[in-house]
Amino acid sequence: MGRPNDELAQDNFSTVRVGLLGCGNVGCALVSLIDAESEAIAERTGVRLAITRIAVRDLAKRRSVPEIASRLTDDPMSVVEDEEIDLIVELIGGIEPAESLIEAALREGKSVVSANKDLLASRGTKLHDLAASAGRDLLYEAAVGGAIPLVRALSVSLAGERVHRVMGIVNGTTNYILTRMSESSASYEEALIEAIKLGFAEADPTADVEGYDAAAKTAIMASIAFNADITAHDVYCRGITEIVVADIDFASRRGYVIKLLAVAERFVEGEDESILVRVHPAMIRKSHPLASVHGAFNAVFIEGEHAGELMLYGRGAGGSATASAVLGDLVEAARGLQRVTTFEQPARRHVQIRPIDQLSSTYCITIEAKDRTGVMAEVADVFGSQGVSIRSMEQTDSYSEARMVFITHLARESDVQATLHGLEKLDSVVRLGGLLRVVGDEDE
Ligand code: HSE
Repeated sequence: MGRPNDELAQDNFSTVRVGLLGCGNVGCALVSLIDAESEAIAERTGVRLAITRIAVRDLAKRRSVPEIASRLTDDPMSVVEDEEIDLIVELIGGIEPAESLIEAALREGKSVVSANKDLLASRGTKLHDLAASAGRDLLYEAAVGGAIPLVRALSVSLAGERVHRVMGIVNGTTNYILTRMSESSASYEEALIEAIKLGFAEADPTADVEGYDAAAKTAIMASIAFNADITAHDVYCRGITEIVVADIDFASRRGYVIKLLAVAERFVEGEDESILVRVHPAMIRKSHPLASVHGAFNAVFIEGEHAGELMLYGRGAGGSATASAVLGDLVEAARGLQRVTTFEQPARRHVQIRPIDQLSSTYCITIEAKDRTGVMAEVADVFGSQGVSIRSMEQTDSYSEARMVFITHLARESDVQATLHGLEKLDSVVRLGGLLRVVGDEDE
């Protein structure tokens, strides 16, 4: 156990007093970590951190952290405005009151550490500008990829690099669900309940399974990688709710796994530059490094002009892993209190967002159709009429319906969407499965 916070040590380490806003899964893990290890952290970093005040919504709620009661308040603004507090950690999530509290903290001259992906993915540029004009840090490593030092890699280590593409798995909950569905044939519902129990999922897991959480993280990664004003609204987003065990089995037989993939990509055509940001389920070749990212782990590939390919891998969700990323930011912000910032970040650029229609990919399309003479010809005709070339087809039968799974050659998204519309109109087509884009094939 570290020393209680009211007996702050008198030694060579300066003590930095931290006000915490929000004490859920990650917040409790952070308090436990700092309370237990403040001595060791001070030895390692030269900074003694002490969480001295904690704002929560419900004072009566039972929490797993010992010795917390005397530090609690239900008035977050009083923590932000407390002159004894040096740094603010915002772990409330959502837009309000988090945004007003962060703005107030920066105006008070306090650096802020946040894990709030929704806020950063919608108001990131505005908050960055505010932090820059206040001369304070706004750090948010924990907003993307849990414990993985991804924000720092993109914004510091690769700051001078021309990044072409950032691609990866950035949602632990969906990766856990898809892994469980493929390894143990657990149903989607069973696997989701497990992910919630393990503390991976968002307060509303719809954000995970519909891809919104990954879309927010993709917007944040893209904004940093391309120094551009990109928000979650710019991200094409599809979740995993339509994926069934039969899709996973098909993919496995053909040498693929299914993952929720996040991609931020830069296109340059002559003078024109555009950014395509997307989140959707993808069929990934088993030989591709992203295919072996299992459970709640995340991994991100970064492709830079000179650095080539980098892959960062680690725990993408869970209180303890995410608290570790918050701790890293806190140490950086605490060290920043002792130096004068002379460097100003360049303003984020306004860039053109490339519509998903212009994507070129290989696709996997699943159709459930009436099993009767001529259906295959009708279906194939729709593909042909849109110029989408079929690379392979597998048909499995039941008594009255056929499940046909097509993999295409390289095709344009707009043509594939037109194909899906054409298929939907056929009397013989009973249901269309979720569209999968294929990654890791030679023509991809
Ligand atoms: N719900 C998120 C996930 C937590 O599953 O990845 C980390 O942001």
